[in-house]
Amino acid sequence: MTLQIKSIEQYQEAYDKSVEDPEGFWAEQASTFLWRKKWHTVLKNDFITPDVQWFVGGKMNITENCLDRHIATRGDQDAIIWEPNEPDEPSVHLTYRELLAEVNKCANALKSFGVKKGDRICFYMPMIPQVAIAILACARIGAIHSVVFAGFSANALAERIKDSQCKVVICSDYNRRGPKNIPVKDVVDEAVSMGCDSVEKVLVFQSTGGKVMWEPNRDVWWHDAIKGMSKECAPEIMDSEDMLFILYTSGSTGKPKGVVHTCGGYMVYTSYTFMNVFQYQEGDIYWCTADVGWITGHSYIIYGPLLSGATTLMFEGVPGHPDAGRFWHICEKHRVNQFYTAPTAIRALMAAGYNAPNSYDLSSLKVIGSVGEPINEEAWHWYDEKVGRGNAPIVDTWWQTETGGIMITPLPGITDSKPCFASYPLPGIQPCILDANGIELTGNEVEGLLCIKFPWPSILRTTYGDHERCRSNYFAAFPNMYFTGDGAKRDTDGRYRIIGRVDDVINVSGHRIGTAEVEDAIDQHSGVVESAVVGYPHDIKGQGIYAYVKAHHEVIDEDHFRREILAVVTKEIGPIAKPDIIQFVSQLPKTRSGKIMRRILRKIASGESDSLGDTSTLLNPECVEELKAGALV
Ligand code: PRX
Repeated sequence: MTLQIKSIEQYQEAYDKSVEDPEGFWAEQASTFLWRKKWHTVLKNDFITPDVQWFVGGKMNITENCLDRHIATRGDQDAIIWEPNEPDEPSVHLTYRELLAEVNKCANALKSFGVKKGDRICFYMPMIPQVAIAILACARIGAIHSVVFAGFSANALAERIKDSQCKVVICSDYNRRGPKNIPVKDVVDEAVSMGCDSVEKVLVFQSTGGKVMWEPNRDVWWHDAIKGMSKECAPEIMDSEDMLFILYTSGSTGKPKGVVHTCGGYMVYTSYTFMNVFQYQEGDIYWCTADVGWITGHSYIIYGPLLSGATTLMFEGVPGHPDAGRFWHICEKHRVNQFYTAPTAIRALMAAGYNAPNSYDLSSLKVIGSVGEPINEEAWHWYDEKVGRGNAPIVDTWWQTETGGIMITPLPGITDSKPCFASYPLPGIQPCILDANGIELTGNEVEGLLCIKFPWPSILRTTYGDHERCRSNYFAAFPNMYFTGDGAKRDTDGRYRIIGRVDDVINVSGHRIGTAEVEDAIDQHSGVVESAVVGYPHDIKGQGIYAYVKAHHEVIDEDHFRREILAVVTKEIGPIAKPDIIQFVSQLPKTRSGKIMRRILRKIASGESDSLGDTSTLLNPECVEELKAGALV
């Protein structure tokens, strides 16, 4: 079994060992899995090029570890419990044995389309069991999954399909999300028509039975594809360093990049973190509310729990449907033991039903988690008191798409939970804080840039098709370090507190959005000359999107123009990137070299116009008064 730390002494011992002998530490964790051939080298450590490899030469298949390995001991245990959008519909239970059979049928269907090891498969799916089945089916045959959050627009989907040249797109007919029924097959049709020539098949799961357009040579219904398929499918034997998946995420510049994770290291790390952070015990019911379109869904709905033989709950709907008690109702109904969600959901539920959790029996909860953005103190206390009720410690888990798994977190019942602190690094993780010159700030009570000094098994390997981008983004800022893009503080006891992004990435409701992407989208409007986008504090979303827009002509009907801009952003990226505030300006503040001075824009958007500092070095200092006067906060 994977190491499960049970005491502070054991934590300290494991941590020390992981620093003194990282290879020994990780080899021990890896040896608890099923390998078809053992690795010859634990770690290839090159943080410069970068070229990090784990368990080199090892052969395995992650689905054998998620599924086959468990059949003898827990074949009849629920692997997945699915809770549908509507509370009065029955939930679905899939045992490990049933899940394996479904995965194999789907894998055989994909093979019948000609899908082979290394082919890329795009997903645009709702939160239904079939998304997990198809993801595992890809991994079974060595195809690389690229899941795109089904809230992105056709343009954004097309961009991602083209970047990784996907051969198949897997989607549903419609997505049910609360009161909405979203025609997603239409979005896929539109995306594929935008020059996605690599797409040979579109596999469609009939989720609602609504009407869809059909391209007979290309589209296949899921139920037809799996009809008659065998429940057996020999797993493709993968190299530890073969690609497992691509997941696109936003950066401070340019288009979203495809973060690449590989099989062996990701397997070891997601299971190790799942077992320790959630202190999962045999028979527990675990629920993570993330969408599978994000890394949290990959690592902590599918892979981490299934690798650990857990029962993982999937929810199709949204927190507020039919009311703000839905999450608590689900916890009560399924006697959930570990619950993992995002601060934005906690804040929204707190606002919608401060006392709503009181009406439910939440006594089964043992650990409650938070992920994706800093959790503010008020939300932390509400979560602790109303949901955890003093029995369930909060784990405020810090990590990223690029890290593959949780990096800094309290261990429930072992290290203490302090509001707003992600606390201590897990054994195996060596964080540090640097100043802007790259000098490490040792000791406690320091604040600076958060970096990681040593590789861990699920670190990203590259950005798909553009290794240089990976190097320059994460490994070039400070030699021999992985740079996270986050700022952090360390307190007197060595706990870490994450402050937030120090680059041009905004974290809106826990979703990463690059300001450059939103600006590019706004600039598509023919009436716009240029725009600048910054984040500002938002009560529910954590950060909101504030856009300063310079128009070609005087704006007569501001509301109308705003609506048009929002429509353009929705079309280019999706509704999640819509600015909350749009301020029309006649000029943007520029440096003498023509760069937009975002510092000033951030301050004004945050209501801190009084502390703009020196603006005299601007090329156009006169614009500052206009910006301040027109501020919409
Ligand atoms: O700024 C940090 C924030 O989310 C970023 C990573 O976003 P993404 O790759 O989408 O992954 C989100 C889910 C792992 C980080 O750079 N972040 C994540 N967790 C926390 C956090 N900020 C503060 N506290 C956290 N617990």
